[in-house]
Amino acid sequence: IMKTATIFAWKDRESAVAQAAEELKGGGLVVFPTETVYGLGANAFDADAVRRIFKAKGRPQDNPLIVHIAKMEQLRDVAAEVSGTARRLMERFWPGPISVIVKKSARIPDAVSAGLGTVAVRMPENDLAREIIARAGIPVAAPSANISGKPSPTLARHAYEDLCGKVPLIIDGGPCRVGVESTVVDATGEIPVILRPGDITPEMIRQAVGNVRVHHGVMSEAQKDEVCASPGMKYRHYAPKANVTVFTGDKKEVAKCVNFRYHSDSMQGKTAVVLCLDECAGLYPECRILPLGRDAGEAEAALFRTLREIDEQGFDAAYFHAQEEKMGLAVMNRIIRAAGHRIVAAGEEKE
Ligand code: TXA
Ligand code: MG
Repeated sequence: IMKTATIFAWKDRESAVAQAAEELKGGGLVVFPTETVYGLGANAFDADAVRRIFKAKGRPQDNPLIVHIAKMEQLRDVAAEVSGTARRLMERFWPGPISVIVKKSARIPDAVSAGLGTVAVRMPENDLAREIIARAGIPVAAPSANISGKPSPTLARHAYEDLCGKVPLIIDGGPCRVGVESTVVDATGEIPVILRPGDITPEMIRQAVGNVRVHHGVMSEAQKDEVCASPGMKYRHYAPKANVTVFTGDKKEVAKCVNFRYHSDSMQGKTAVVLCLDECAGLYPECRILPLGRDAGEAEAALFRTLREIDEQGFDAAYFHAQEEKMGLAVMNRIIRAAGHRIVAAGEEKE
């Protein structure tokens, strides 16, 4: 447990859970761990409490929040209507890292849904998260516990760095198992549509419900006047202060391109770092590297911590060696946003 300016590592789980639940019931904010990223929670029925979340994060008002529940019974208070597709996704993947969009109940204030008639609901797999929500006895609205625009926190320390002084309580649950936010799926129609990719992949969803679509905004830049299916997708996100560039294409072409840039004249007096899977580290013998692990799961777990490290270590530029098939959609979606859609197709450069 951390109290604004003081850090307490909790010893007694019971009292940590009880304190968090009391804070939530009283209309306060609590940072709590989930398996994806740390959440900044408030009573989802309390519009004033929810507005405090937006204020603490500096979050745009038009970006709706995910409502977290601990038990299936709570769904009745949150959703007005749950489609067959939604029900199957919940049965298959809850508790777990997937948020399912359903028609919202009248008890959920507009402050949560940003005025939409729908609400995203999720039952987290993390035991501490579910214990806190169950003890509070209310659904908990919670975005990621970062300042808007920064990478989501995967350690309690990250939330502390962003929100110290703005929240009364931070519950430390150790590093988040998954490391990227939940898959967000619109299940209000016949075919589920992935609005934000996560650890639950399109393939897994297809297997569960027979069909799935990935919203085109997942891997491309939202058009300025486009009506956003998921308002969160239009904001620059996860971005360190350093310039991030994503390099795609054949492994050797990418390595040639990145090594050239790393050692180019324009980088004189500046520092750069390469982000890549372990298997590619050997391609950069004379470069600083922040390794992302061996596969999609490890890359997800490492990504946000690594993006924060870029700033902690003060690099001017970061070159991301993309391997989409091995890293997966969730990592690619986050990194192209962190890069502000600066993507170089290696070997096909027009310069
Ligand atoms: O893993 C997670 O989902 C974490 C943890 C704390 O549970 N939470 C999280 O919340 O990532 P947040 O607020 O950072 O992201 C919520 C995303 C946004 O992109 C938002 O636009 C979208 O979900 N969203 C929420 N409600 C929606 C709705 N009714 N329709 C469409 N998109 C929605
Ligand atoms: Mg977020």
